[in-house]
Amino acid sequence: MKNRVLIQAVVFLIAGIGSVFAQSAALAPTPPMGWSTWNHFKHDISDATVRAQADALVASGMRDAGYVYVNIDGGWEGYRDAAGVLHPNNNFPDMKALGNYIHSKGLKFGMYTGPGPKTCAGAVASYGYEAQDAKMFAAWGVDYLKYDLCSFHKIMEQESGGDLHKSDALMVTAYQKMHQALLNTGRPIVFSMCQYGWGKVWEWGPQVGGDLWRTTGDIDDTYGRMTSIGFREAGLSRYAGAGHWNDPDILEVGNGGMHFDEYRTHFSLWAILAAPLIAGNDLSNMTPETKSILLNREVIAVDQDPLGKQGDRAYAAGPLEVWTKPLQNGAIAVGLFNRTSHPANMTLNLEKIGWQGKAVARDLWKHKDIGTLNGDYTVIVPEHGVILLRIQKPGV
Ligand code: GAL
Repeated sequence: MKNRVLIQAVVFLIAGIGSVFAQSAALAPTPPMGWSTWNHFKHDISDATVRAQADALVASGMRDAGYVYVNIDGGWEGYRDAAGVLHPNNNFPDMKALGNYIHSKGLKFGMYTGPGPKTCAGAVASYGYEAQDAKMFAAWGVDYLKYDLCSFHKIMEQESGGDLHKSDALMVTAYQKMHQALLNTGRPIVFSMCQYGWGKVWEWGPQVGGDLWRTTGDIDDTYGRMTSIGFREAGLSRYAGAGHWNDPDILEVGNGGMHFDEYRTHFSLWAILAAPLIAGNDLSNMTPETKSILLNREVIAVDQDPLGKQGDRAYAAGPLEVWTKPLQNGAIAVGLFNRTSHPANMTLNLEKIGWQGKAVARDLWKHKDIGTLNGDYTVIVPEHGVILLRIQKPGV
């Protein structure tokens, strides 16, 4: 509690709160959607990779389904020269031209740096050069900046002398500083905070200008890691809304480490969480299964619902979990998640999710209406799988 009060105090001292909220809600009224270099390509990226993925976003129909951000993650950085200018490495000969290319496709351009002297991979980051880097990003036409804590952690340790409150305050100030630098450029730039959820970022992220913030450490392409991140989001729904989203990390759908039902669980859970849907696979090489997930517009509509409410766990019986997300016009998305390694009967009990009367239901993976429910609905859910329903009042 004391810690929270201190963080809030720092935030109030340094933030121009009204303007921060105004800008954020306009920039990310629904969770950002796009693609990132990180999960699949890691540091093996170049101008050509990014252009090819931008092309694939368009050709696959993903752009038209809402995936508009093309985000370069770590691996683009070169060196900082004597005048303080941060140069891309040789794989990125002309960032402004790359930005223009991305924009010419009707897409938006995302970049990556951090508040420390170095990124997690040891490349040069923005410490001490926040204003200069922000100006350069704006000049390149950047629309989205992921700001990754990494080596700033060391500065927090050193400058706080081990005092956790001071350490958190330094982190808050660092994020606020870059946000202010972005505002000063005059270019609207989505601010994606990445500090792994430290200091309960969801409680102060909006006040330092975060449009979204990572709530956890890194995802990987396993069912175990994906679910430990996703289901641990329970309880965070009240912190999300238009312009300020919880971010459980980039999608792994299509990267090959999980089976079809597991990836459907991943995508359904992220949609119920109103999570940013940033694809992290190779878009130029997608199986029909991968496309059927990433391009499922009914599930995307759950994520992007204009009401802007994050869902939460409604009830659970051990590893059989029922999650709900309020949607516009009184509808609700319901996910029946079977976390066991065998198929299981699961029952949706309308009363338990606070629903009164009958409900008209649709299965969002089968793309089928399943009729009118009254009381209980029991269904077999595959191992590690999900049944995702949308229910609404009859006649709506
Ligand atoms: C991590 C971050 C990842 C990715 C990576 C790049 O700190 O959580 O999402 O950006 O750095 O090195």
